Amino acid sequence: MIFVTGGAGFIGSNFILNWLDKHKEPVVNIDKLTYAGNLENLKSVECNPNYIFAKVDLLDQTALAELVGKYKPRAILNFAAESHVDRSIHGPGDFIQTNIVGTFNLLEVTRAYWGTLPEAEKKSFRFLHVSTDEVYGSLEMNDPAFSETTPYAPNSPYSASKAASDHLVRAYHHTYGLPTVTTNCSNNYGPYQFPEKLIPIVIHNALKGKDLPIYGDGSNIRDWLYVVDHCEAIELALDKGRLGETYNVGGWNEKKNIEVVDTICGTLDKLRPRSDGKSYLTQKVFVKDRPGHDKRYAIDATKIEKELGWKPKENFETGLAKTIKWYLDNETWVSNVVSGNYREWLDKNYEGRK
Ligand code: NAD
Ligand code: TYD
Repeated sequence: MIFVTGGAGFIGSNFILNWLDKHKEPVVNIDKLTYAGNLENLKSVECNPNYIFAKVDLLDQTALAELVGKYKPRAILNFAAESHVDRSIHGPGDFIQTNIVGTFNLLEVTRAYWGTLPEAEKKSFRFLHVSTDEVYGSLEMNDPAFSETTPYAPNSPYSASKAASDHLVRAYHHTYGLPTVTTNCSNNYGPYQFPEKLIPIVIHNALKGKDLPIYGDGSNIRDWLYVVDHCEAIELALDKGRLGETYNVGGWNEKKNIEVVDTICGTLDKLRPRSDGKSYLTQKVFVKDRPGHDKRYAIDATKIEKELGWKPKENFETGLAKTIKWYLDNETWVSNVVSGNYREWLDKNYEGRK
């Protein structure tokens, strides 16, 4: 069986749903259930005998050690993290704890367990660490895209904490021989993404008749990848990735934030026109920029494409259309996650930007 940490979050839950759809191998989902963890994402597999949930914090080494002792996984995939840049600016503490100390704890528990395995199982064991392109810092317009050899230059508390976790994973391979593989992916979008990140918050606010907040002048660029394509890249890296290596994963879909917002508005105008006949574009509002806002991210995914044969199936248009349709069909999911805590976050993040 395999372990997935952070499996109740956006990417982790997509990964588990995809995995159980394709494989008979059981998966244990280890999640603390922060504001971003939502078991409703996994409702369809709740009764699947190959799905096990354990509410455990990565900061609890004893509980993690009990879980590996009990289930004896052949692989551990680490998705768990605090993942939102704006939250890391307002309060970096949880990012240091979960992303750095939590990854360290998981590595320590894994190292101890791995050391006890018979030789053949030791060889086939994998620790797969899910990371981000944000560890590479920010690109200027004419810079080449991030490759696996681009030096790390993280700029936010979030990306710095992810960079630290990547370094720990690297060190555990180099020093102890732990069989690790790391993936560094660009911005994901798709079903089950919490409406604090750009794409789901724009869809949600548009439908609620609220402002669509665009930081600065909207010219910052991100590379966007549909979440299921990311999950497939992770599976390939788990199966065929070379030990100790990192693989960049990206969609070849660089877009300015303003283009993303405009495309969402255009699609909603067609699929769910406003009752007053006006375009959703009229809800766009430019707000105060994020401090230290990275200008541009771009991924060179040649290595994973050439070595592992990965290719994204969706382009931005098809992926975004699926995503918007999912949010339109799942308005109850959204209203369930938009709780009191969420409203507090909106006040904290957006009040000062007006
Ligand atoms: P998310 O915030 O939606 O989910 C994170 C999950 O981790 C939640 O279920 C949360 O409850 C859990 N978690 C948090 N702290 C924990 C702890 N201490 N112990 C156990 N569980 C804990 O994040 P996501 O967007 O699904 O991202 C998953 C991973 O992918 C992260 O490591 C992130 O850095 C990486 N990543 C994300 C993106 C993106 O665009 N979202 C892109 C590249 C890489
Ligand atoms: P986000 O989804 O938070 O991902 P990240 O910061 O990890 O790239 O933001 C994507 C881009 O959208 C980023 O340049 C910041 C911008 N943004 C807005 O313009 N308005 C918003 O309300 C949010 C949340 C993000």
